[in-house]
Amino acid sequence: MFWYPPLLILVNALLPRPTQCALLERFEDLKRNDFDFVIIGGGTAGNTVANRLTENPNHHVLVLEAGGSNANAFVSMIPNFCARTLGSAIDWNYTAQTGPVMNRVVGLPRGFVLGGTSSMNCMAYTRGTREDWDRYAHVTNDAGWSWDNIQTYVRKNERFTPPADGHDTTGEFDPSVHSFDGINSVTLSGFRHQVATRVIQASKAMGNDSEFRFVLDMNSGEHLGIGFAQSTVLNGTRSSSATSYLGPQFINRPNLHVLLHAHVTRISSEETAHNGLTFTGVELSQDSGKTLHTVTASKEVILSAGSIATPQILMNSGIGDPNTLSNLGIRTLQRLPSVGRNLSEHLVLTLGWVVTANDTDSEAARNATLAAEQLRQWNETRTGPLVDAPDLDFGWVRLPKNASIFERVKDPSPGPNTAHIEIQFLNHGFTPEIPPPNLIGVAPTLLSPISRGFVTLNTSNPFDHPFINLNFLDSEFDLFALREGIRSARRFMSSPSFNGFLVSAVVNATTDDELDEFITATAGGACHPIGTAMMSPRGADWGVVDPDLRVKGVERLRVVDASVLPFLPAGHTQAPTYIIAERASDLIKASWS
Ligand SMILES: Cc1cc2nc3c(=O)[nH]c(=O)nc-3n(C[C@H](O)[C@H](O)[C@H](O)COP(=O)(O)OP(=O)(O)OC[C@H]3O[C@@H](n4cnc5c(N)ncnc54)[C@H](O)[C@@H]3O)c2cc1C
Ligand SMILES: *[C@@H]1O[C@H](CO)[C@@H](O)[C@H](O)[C@H]1NC(C)=O
Ligand SMILES: *[C@@H]1O[C@H](CO)[C@@H](O)[C@H](O)[C@H]1NC(C)=O
Ligand SMILES: *[C@@H]1O[C@H](CO)[C@@H](O)[C@H](O)[C@H]1NC(C)=O
Ligand SMILES: *[C@@H]1O[C@H](CO)[C@@H](O)[C@H](O)[C@H]1NC(C)=O
Ligand SMILES: *[C@@H]1O[C@H](CO)[C@@H](O)[C@H](O)[C@H]1NC(C)=O
Ligand SMILES: *[C@@H]1O[C@H](CO)[C@@H](O)[C@H](O)[C@H]1NC(C)=O
Ligand SMILES: *[C@@H]1O[C@H](CO)[C@@H](O)[C@H](O)[C@H]1NC(C)=O
Ligand SMILES: *[C@@H]1O[C@H](CO)[C@@H](O)[C@H](O)[C@H]1NC(C)=O
Ligand SMILES: *[C@@H]1O[C@H](CO)[C@@H](O)[C@H](O)[C@H]1NC(C)=O
Ligand SMILES: *[C@@H]1O[C@H](CO)[C@@H](O)[C@H](O)[C@H]1NC(C)=O
Repeated sequence: MFWYPPLLILVNALLPRPTQCALLERFEDLKRNDFDFVIIGGGTAGNTVANRLTENPNHHVLVLEAGGSNANAFVSMIPNFCARTLGSAIDWNYTAQTGPVMNRVVGLPRGFVLGGTSSMNCMAYTRGTREDWDRYAHVTNDAGWSWDNIQTYVRKNERFTPPADGHDTTGEFDPSVHSFDGINSVTLSGFRHQVATRVIQASKAMGNDSEFRFVLDMNSGEHLGIGFAQSTVLNGTRSSSATSYLGPQFINRPNLHVLLHAHVTRISSEETAHNGLTFTGVELSQDSGKTLHTVTASKEVILSAGSIATPQILMNSGIGDPNTLSNLGIRTLQRLPSVGRNLSEHLVLTLGWVVTANDTDSEAARNATLAAEQLRQWNETRTGPLVDAPDLDFGWVRLPKNASIFERVKDPSPGPNTAHIEIQFLNHGFTPEIPPPNLIGVAPTLLSPISRGFVTLNTSNPFDHPFINLNFLDSEFDLFALREGIRSARRFMSSPSFNGFLVSAVVNATTDDELDEFITATAGGACHPIGTAMMSPRGADWGVVDPDLRVKGVERLRVVDASVLPFLPAGHTQAPTYIIAERASDLIKASWS
């Protein structure tokens, strides 16, 4: 494991306290308990919808967030510290089974704080490819989800900003595919790390016919190749849905109400005159269930609790598979067996190399003086090595067309221009040695898994964690592709451009059997769960929401978060989540105009 010096106390003592926004802590402080819209979860998607719906001063919107304010969560602010948010006070600390092949229990981090997982993620900004979005349009039978049609929402979300060190970014991205006037900041690396430069040099040296060719902008819709990472960072500090969509220029809107420490237990329904079910009441507690409060939404309830809590809240509200619900004594109000099913997650592992570079994260991990110096620099100027998110460059590669697996398994990728494997380039690695030598990490990630897991209720107590099974490596394809991903990463690292840089490889598993053992023992989830309240075409007898994100068969209830994605994008999931939330906001506004 990576070793961190005891910095957190230092962080708390050193950093300025950001101004506290007008956020409510106690239910009693709410001036009303009826709203036009109630949003469950002040996370990535929830805060986006809250911002957009309150653009209309007549819409009174309440956001209910189980966690606390992000303002004092310093560990969340510093991009390089993202890994330290895991298991911290702002993590839900879920655990998940990995299924019979891996047979391990893994942590499944999720943000327990305003901003949700955007307050603890590693900030990589990747939209997925044109083929990913065109597949969403195809499988939902709604052209509104196509790549061309979501561009409006990409642009509403993104505000491309200069990097923390203000360097000239010509040749590092394609400005024509970016927006400079959206809300959430996206930027390029603000510190020159040696590994990042080496990777780009190696890619360019391999030429345009190489599988590792340089790609100027992986967010253009076509990502194959290797290029510079873009991250949701602003002036050296994390840009989350809390700092952006609920930023100082928005949070004081008189029609926007945010209640923290508000754990939603269930959504309650009324039967309407025509026997349809209308979910208008939201039940919450601020004291683990001792006292329950109810608020009502006269227009809609928006469920944005994320891929784990959203299906949990649906099931606790009587929406799900009748067998599951009746076993726990919950009356089924709406039969939707797909709730919690089709859980899909990227699988990632890290290959470490000992390097000659003297600017890896290991330097600070073994030298407390240097670590304190870096922190002071960040505190005083928002510059230096801490301004960057962990991913410095990314590679996107496909299995060869003639890979033997395709004789037996249909290619699960959405098309020929979308990667099966991502390669993440990191300025740290993992060894048992403490203190660690200078390490870099190269992390092959399976983008198009065939395996599907599930989330279900473990108990009917809404304060208990649900039961999660990721069911990794349930398909022969998944193991094959990750094995080839490791080989692909090594092919790239064997480029002569790395001569004099790489000292030794930490991982030496080579044969299929050795690789399978290594994968089974060390791979884990990339923290991108989706699919548990998936979209399907209107009228389909599977799926949880229609393409306009309304829960099937009931009224006035929508799901807006990562759980609605029917397939994983070939990339990290926050940008797609913001895009979904931006489009959802327009769909909701249109319903009530
Ligand atoms: C460690 C980590 C690293 C990641 N790195 C990246 C990355 O680099 N790039 C990327 O694109 N993606 C990354 N992701 C994934 C990405 O952040 C998520 O896919 C995305 O933020 C999900 O957004 P969401 O709106 O679906 O859920 P969330 O942002 O999790 O929002 C859900 C909100 O609901 C609240 N909530 C839950 N239950 C209740 C309840 N009962 N009552 C009230 N509130 C409730 C939660 O506290 C939370 O605030 C990472 C995730 C993690 C955990
Ligand atoms: C951190 O920054 C604040 C001002 O932003 C300053 O008051 C404080 O002294 C700084 N601490 C250190 C150790 O630099
Ligand atoms: C997660 O674990 C940390 C460390 O033990 C703890 O501080 C935090 O309160 C836990 N999160 C929740 C939601 O309980
Ligand atoms: C690779 O393609 C880019 C962009 O099309 C071009 O600028 C560059 O010269 C090409 N490199 C080589 C080695 O052909
Ligand atoms: C970011 O930094 C730039 C340049 O210093 C400054 O103009 C801008 O106001 C800063 N933005 C925020 C939100 O602090
Ligand atoms: C899972 O998704 C597939 C489409 O990818 C669908 O056919 C199937 O019915 C879904 N399964 C469940 C249990 O909803
Ligand atoms: C790191 O190495 C570079 C040369 O590659 C050198 O210029 C620099 O001084 C070194 N830094 C430290 C802290 O040793
Ligand atoms: C630790 O870092 C400090 C500050 O950069 C430096 O002066 C010192 O030489 C480093 N110590 C070691 C043992 O490398
Ligand atoms: C795939 O084709 C390449 C040449 O295009 C060849 O070198 C390789 O051996 C083939 N692999 C398999 C598994 O057939
Ligand atoms: C599920 O509930 C059982 C019994 O209450 C408990 O022992 C177990 O730890 C729970 N599992 C999870 C994932 O919370
Ligand atoms: C692989 O690495 C391990 C641990 O570093 C080492 O003990 C072993 O000898 C290596 N095996 C080979 C074949 O190089």
